[in-house]
Amino acid sequence: MKVLIATQKPFAAAAVAGIKDILEKGGHEVVLLEKYAEQADFVKAVADVNAIIIRSDKVTAEVLDAAKELKIVVRAGAGYDNVDLAAASAHGVVVMNTPGQNSNAVAELAIAMMIFMARTQFTPATGSEVQGKTLGIQAFGNVGRLVGAKAKALGMKVKALDPFLSDEQIAAGGAEPVHTLDELYTGSDYLSLHIPALPSTIGSIGYDLITKMPKGATLVNTARKEVIDEAGLEKALEERPDLKYVTDVAPDNLAVLQEKFGLRVFATPKKMGAQTAEANVNAGLAAANQIVDYFATGNTRFQVNK
Ligand code: 3PG
Repeated sequence: MKVLIATQKPFAAAAVAGIKDILEKGGHEVVLLEKYAEQADFVKAVADVNAIIIRSDKVTAEVLDAAKELKIVVRAGAGYDNVDLAAASAHGVVVMNTPGQNSNAVAELAIAMMIFMARTQFTPATGSEVQGKTLGIQAFGNVGRLVGAKAKALGMKVKALDPFLSDEQIAAGGAEPVHTLDELYTGSDYLSLHIPALPSTIGSIGYDLITKMPKGATLVNTARKEVIDEAGLEKALEERPDLKYVTDVAPDNLAVLQEKFGLRVFATPKKMGAQTAEANVNAGLAAANQIVDYFATGNTRFQVNK
């Protein structure tokens, strides 16, 4: 089979080498499309491929229409909001992710961002310590649990809200369970977002929730920019000069936010939560193994469009 690795933001070289090795040993041919400038380049590259490995690359209906031989797409990572699942299913294409494989990298970045903001973006201005503060975690999945464990090691109190988990499951993950957004936001000096981008979550974090946070609080977003109501965020930061926002996914209104709020807002220049050699290797090799296994045995364990 012909497998395309399509990564606008390339994997580390070690990950590419490992992916190729697994696929070629499995009897597959590998083609590489990295740092492509236009979506049209991606559309062109899929014409004769049977499988695709992607990161945040957009697998749209147009891509799927053009990929006449395609059987499987594996998103090397967790979030698959960049894949048109309905179109994939309509084309009979299996879509998988590689859950958990890049979680530690994202969790480390969330912690780093908290401290970066607590220490006023590493400027000489007097900062604060995270020890003794409360971290609220919205969605206690793979990343949320790792953020919680690291925060506890820093001496933080950790609370988590996750409607898909029982109190016992949250407690087993080391956090105090809370049951409402109100409770979570009201009680969190730091609030770390780990919700996926779904119709129900897009634009769900706005003025009402953000202004519930206590004095001096920081909202940390290593999830997706789409979950933020940007106008609401701007209004909240305007009314509450004590609040801060740090994000791994630059909002559309970043220039305005930075101009208005200076050191109270920070966004990474490019999404980099999962951009470590380790995360690239873990997620990339898992994706390659899942493709080999799918073609050899039909294993669809990580399929997300069942
Ligand atoms: C994910 O959903 O796995 C992360 O957001 C990582 O995305 P990336 O592969 O584009 O860095």
